[in-house]
Amino acid sequence: MRHKQSDYIHWSKTQSRARFNLATSGVAPFPFRELPIDLKELEINGDDSYGYAPLQQAIAAHHGVDPDCVVESAGTSMANHLAMAAIIEPGDEVLIEHPAYGPILDIAEYLQANVKRFRRVEENGWAIDPVEVRRCITPKTCLIVITNLHNPTSVLTPDSVLREIGDIARSAGALVLVDEVYLDSVYDNTPRTSFHLGPNFVVTSSLTKVYGVSGLRCGWVLAQPDVALKMHRLNDLYSATPVHPGELLSLAAFQHLDLLRVRARRILEADRKLLRGFLKQEPALSAVETKWGTTLFPRLLNGEADAFLERLRFEFDTSAVPGRFFEMPDHFRIGMGVNTEMFAEGLNRIDRALACDTIRN
Ligand SMILES: Cc1ncc(COP(=O)(O)O)c(C=O)c1O
Repeated sequence: MRHKQSDYIHWSKTQSRARFNLATSGVAPFPFRELPIDLKELEINGDDSYGYAPLQQAIAAHHGVDPDCVVESAGTSMANHLAMAAIIEPGDEVLIEHPAYGPILDIAEYLQANVKRFRRVEENGWAIDPVEVRRCITPKTCLIVITNLHNPTSVLTPDSVLREIGDIARSAGALVLVDEVYLDSVYDNTPRTSFHLGPNFVVTSSLTKVYGVSGLRCGWVLAQPDVALKMHRLNDLYSATPVHPGELLSLAAFQHLDLLRVRARRILEADRKLLRGFLKQEPALSAVETKWGTTLFPRLLNGEADAFLERLRFEFDTSAVPGRFFEMPDHFRIGMGVNTEMFAEGLNRIDRALACDTIRN
């Protein structure tokens, strides 16, 4: 039977809630009342058969690309689906990073790809190792898929490595799909999209995670115009046309992106400072710390993360994402950037739960 679900998304919708919710990956919702828009300009219907031109242009300008390369989508989720479905035929070999964001694997399985993996290892700071990618690619590989920043670790892959991956892919006639949904949380010297690194790069992103406007579902794919056209045609089978009021509000968000960015950065930086202090005095965890991003992926040095997280949720009303969703059951993912008071108390409760475990063991 064909794979038709995402266990991670189902878990996050049904099992992740807690008073101290550190099972997040996006920043705090940006309050609608703080977005300077004139509601009289909102409309229900508009000219958006294959995207609303002003929004396509705003996305294109954000990345410095041609609007013909932009395909609007409902979040990065649909962007990943559209991109992969337009590229992959059943049986095609697809090389995906490990650990990976679960739904990327789910989409590949759903599309009946022959999924191969290349490893990012903790001892190497979770970096992408081009030698490992070269070892795993075959002449049958049609697509390499990575996330940058990496989910779950938030590790940034530099352009020099991305370029190498692009070269390796090109030698096999493959494309590289880079999910950049977290890239704009690199606040200093924000890297340009990897789409500029060569014609075999396809990029997905959205305003959902690092700008606090997830509900607008403003996502997109960047692809060469001929591939973009395939995605537009394929999208006729999925959502046909976008929600126009959502497009207008997304355009307003683009026009005030700095406002959204400054607010998110303030919370993220406060949370990261707390996290640094927490990790320094926490002997039960080891973690690769990053300067940017909304998540951290610590390893539990003793014991099993699933059992620990169950207890954390039921006894301490605090949640984090089990590493099993990233095929790393000794790890768990902590999210920052929502509410610093909540984050501080969540860390405090993780600390207390770990201390209880140490006594029990
Ligand atoms: C790497 C990655 N891609 C895509 C998504 C989905 O994003 P969106 O909310 O834009 O659909 C997520 C959400 O957590 C993610 O972590």
